[in-house]
Amino acid sequence: MKATAVAHANIALVKYWGKRDDALHLPQAASLAVALDRLRTETSVDLGGAEDILELDGKPASPEQVQRARALLDAAGIREKARIVSRNDFPTAAGLASSASGFAALAVAACAAAGKKRSLEELSALARLGSGSAARSVPGGWAVWENESARQVFSPSHWDLRFCVAICALGPKATGSRDGMRATRESSPYHAAWIEQCRRDLPRALHLLAGKNLDGLGALAESNALRMHADALAAEPPLLYWEPATVGCLQALRSLREERVQAWATIDAGPHVVAICAPETAKQVETRLRAVSGVLDVLVCSPAEGARVVS
Ligand code: DP6
Repeated sequence: MKATAVAHANIALVKYWGKRDDALHLPQAASLAVALDRLRTETSVDLGGAEDILELDGKPASPEQVQRARALLDAAGIREKARIVSRNDFPTAAGLASSASGFAALAVAACAAAGKKRSLEELSALARLGSGSAARSVPGGWAVWENESARQVFSPSHWDLRFCVAICALGPKATGSRDGMRATRESSPYHAAWIEQCRRDLPRALHLLAGKNLDGLGALAESNALRMHADALAAEPPLLYWEPATVGCLQALRSLREERVQAWATIDAGPHVVAICAPETAKQVETRLRAVSGVLDVLVCSPAEGARVVS
């Protein structure tokens, strides 16, 4: 009645920012993301105790987090109480996306602990109930998510790229993705245009990814992310996720491109910048980002596989 699973966080190149169903976590537009090897969560689930216990990085989780985990277990048909221990290999204090890897690892570990055979599709749909973006961490590699579950469209080895994650602040952000995307959908006058843009971006991104066109895909990912933030900034009240270091990183990448070093930014609902580049230039990109005032650390990641049982 015990199992351990690992999963990786993912970074979207065509972002998910808006739900068509708040309760079921179904997106308004399809998104494309890649799993990142150094952003890894390991979760073990032990079934049969007297109450649900959730421990995150050695500390007891909040009642709301326990409730989210329980909802996922209920949806999986697991009635037994669970002791869940989850550990991130990366600094969660910085507010890096740990919910995607966390819920993907939880779905896989819980079903394994309960002896329930589930397809990748079913596991992805379960993880989605914890957090929408977690659906994409189950198949891993390059994944597209549109409806109940996400599917891998290219394996992690399809294209050897690097993703330099520049940590631009410490501490959790003021408005989480869930509340932020709801507020944006309900109050941004640009939201319909943003969703239309994502629907145009996805087929183009898949074509550029298939052709391994770094200039094309990098530029598309950067403009998709900036448009997501433009939509969030247009919410009432406005959602500003950036720190001065965020802008510093965007400018550093722009000047690198002027020097013919190809690197582009993407930014989730937080201050951190993820630079997309080729392996040959990753060191240069890392060094330049580290020199930006306010950047606390840079993690250089490669594409990773999906969620899996390890014991
Ligand atoms: C900006 O998956 O965290 O990272 O479904 O409400 O749990 P919920 O939101 P979440 O949102 C992620 C938003 C994003 C973009 C993305 O990953 O596509």
